[in-house]
Amino acid sequence: MRFVPSNCLREGMSLGKTLYGRNNELVLSRGVELTSFFIEGIIRLGYSGVYIDDDISKDIEIINVISENVRQETINGMKKVFMKAERGQDFSDLKKDISFQMNSIVDELLKNRNLMVNMIDLKCFDNYTYAHSVNVAVLSVIIGISMGLKKELLFRLGLGAIMHDIGKVFVDKNIINKPGKLTNDEYKLVKTHPMAGYRYIREKFMLPSTSYDVIIDHHEKYDGTGYPHSKSGDRISLFGRIAAIADVYDALTSKRPYRAALNPSESIEHIMGNCGVSFDTEIVQIFIRKVAPYPVGTTVRLSNGLTGLVTENYETHCLRPRIRVIKDDESAVTPYEIDLKDDFSYLNVTIEGIINE
Ligand SMILES: [Fe+2]
Repeated sequence: MRFVPSNCLREGMSLGKTLYGRNNELVLSRGVELTSFFIEGIIRLGYSGVYIDDDISKDIEIINVISENVRQETINGMKKVFMKAERGQDFSDLKKDISFQMNSIVDELLKNRNLMVNMIDLKCFDNYTYAHSVNVAVLSVIIGISMGLKKELLFRLGLGAIMHDIGKVFVDKNIINKPGKLTNDEYKLVKTHPMAGYRYIREKFMLPSTSYDVIIDHHEKYDGTGYPHSKSGDRISLFGRIAAIADVYDALTSKRPYRAALNPSESIEHIMGNCGVSFDTEIVQIFIRKVAPYPVGTTVRLSNGLTGLVTENYETHCLRPRIRVIKDDESAVTPYEIDLKDDFSYLNVTIEGIINE
């Protein structure tokens, strides 16, 4: 299986992973052969790309850190929460469901603690907010597990993270989705969402007190230039510092109506470049051991002109994965594998980037 960006899909390609739509409905099943009609639909729905199976990639397996049904159920649960909050309705009846789903997520992540996040998230435009909430929770809990947090704390971290942006329902949608730069007044309104979310959740939903840390602190920056309280360094709660990284990573890797999705390596470079500025350096170091910049199944170009598919990642060497070479400078070659971590003849060869083909 390999990842192919939407603009590079061709008729006849075979879908490697089932695609789900905004209501958890099946859009296209694994194994279906893509037609121009299907490809147009994939682009229209806003998917940045899909997984396909072909001869050079059919033995490459990509395992997600949580199962697809838990993920889809939680996305649906969050959709209900957001819709009720938007209408000003009480949604405390959903607390049991969300708690149950968060418990399942924590259990699965603990079980899969040795896996890296290798899967590129397949979001469509319509479920962005809900899928983003779930992803921020998953990434936050993954960081928490690597930091050795106990299960009850992971659960609280996940609950806060999944609700981190609920306060956005109180900000004009036109401002939240505005493609261009916000005016000062608009930005002031956006900056109200952490405290508005905290007050609302405390009143209507009641979470463990540490879960509120995520909602309040997820836009604080390590150097003190964030909001709402301009806290800096360790004055920002641990949960807030964790969720800030998860939030930015998932937002950058998502396709938005006003910009293309950044690929994982670009997003990780942005996060690494903000160590000690926006983010806590120690937590970034933990994050980059668990989230692969070049996920399994992506196509990369090497500095020696070769093109290959990533087949395996190493937690300890995030920029030096195992690669199946499929092309030299110009033409296809019989595939062979090289290991950038261990093969010293490739010591001076680096990955130039993920390529779209
Ligand atoms: Fe936010």
